[in-house]
Amino acid sequence: MAEFKVIGVIGAGQMGSGIAQLAAVAGADVRLLDKDAQALLSAKRSISDSVQRFVSKGQLSKEVGADAVARVKYTSNLEDLQSADIVIEAIVESEDVKKKLFSELDKIVKQSAILASNTSSISITRLASATKRPHQVIGMHFMNPPPIMKLVEIIRGADTSDNTFNATKTLAERFGKTVVCSQDYAGFIVNRILMPMINEAFYTLYTGVATKEDIDAGMKLGTNQPMGPLQLADFIGLDVCLSILKVLHSGLGDPKYTPCPLLVQYVDAGRLGKKRGVGVYNYRKVHNQSSK
Ligand code: NAI
Repeated sequence: MAEFKVIGVIGAGQMGSGIAQLAAVAGADVRLLDKDAQALLSAKRSISDSVQRFVSKGQLSKEVGADAVARVKYTSNLEDLQSADIVIEAIVESEDVKKKLFSELDKIVKQSAILASNTSSISITRLASATKRPHQVIGMHFMNPPPIMKLVEIIRGADTSDNTFNATKTLAERFGKTVVCSQDYAGFIVNRILMPMINEAFYTLYTGVATKEDIDAGMKLGTNQPMGPLQLADFIGLDVCLSILKVLHSGLGDPKYTPCPLLVQYVDAGRLGKKRGVGVYNYRKVHNQSSK
C-alpha cells in the first residue's frame, strides 16, 4: 500500500490550500502549486492562520502545527511535483483545463503516482483518458472547508484499480475523514442533490417569491441546516456552482438542471461570492460594519 510521503496539491485556492493543510498536518511533505503567485501568498497566509486556530483551540499541539506549516512548499513549477506519491488537483472547474493539466502531469510524475481530482462534478473517466495511467486516476472530492468538513467523496472512474481506490480511501481516513464512494456520473452524490437545491433557491429569489434573507432563514430554520442555500452558494463560489450545474445539465440531459438566469448574471458581473467580497450578499459591507 502506498505511503504517500510526498503529496502534491495543484490549485492554491480555497480548496487546494485546505487540502494542503490536511496533508501537512497528517505528516506528509507537501508541494502546493498554483500558476498565480498571489494565490500562493494568500494560501500561505490562510494555512498559517488556520493551523493557528486549531492550536489555539487545543486541537493541535504547537509543535505539530509549526511542523505542518513548515512542511508545505510553494511553487509554480510543475517539475517540483516529480517526487509526489499522489497529486491532488484542485484547479478551476473546467474539463478542458483539467485534462490539459492531467496530460502534462502524467508525463512528469513518477510511474507509481496516483492522480486525484477534487472536481465537484467532472467525469473522472474523461480526466483519466487524458493520461496513460487511467487505473491510477481517481476522484477525491473534499467538502468546503477541507480542514473542517468530515466527508470525502471518492469517485472511481471506469478504469480505476482496486489498489488506487484502497490507497486513496486510506489516505482520506489518515486525514481524519469519513469516505463515501460514488460511481462516476455527473455531480456524484453530494452535488447531484445539493446543486438543484441551490439553483431552486436562486429561482425562488429570481421570481420574487421571497427576499434572500427569508429564503435562507426559511431553509436554515425550517430544514435544520447550518446556513441557507444562498449563503452556502456564496461560500462555495457562484462560478463553481454555475460550472457544476452546467455539468449536471449536459451530463444528465434533464432541463430541470438549467442554471437560473440570476445565477448566470451574478457570475457575469463578477459577483462570485465570499472569495470576491460580494455574491448574493455583500461581505465587504458586513466586514466594514463589523470592524467599525
Ligand atoms: P478557487 O478559484 O478558489 O481556486 C482555484 C485555483 O486554481 C486558483 O488559485 C487558480 O489560480 C488555480 N489554477 C487555475 N488553473 C490552474 C492551472 N492550470 N494550474 C495551476 N493552478 C491553476 O477554486 P476552488 O473553490 O478552490 O475550487 C477548486 C476545485 O475544487 C474546483 O474543481 C471545484 O469544483 C472543486 N471544489 C470546490 C468546492 C468549493 O466549495 N469551492 C468544494 C469541493 C470541490
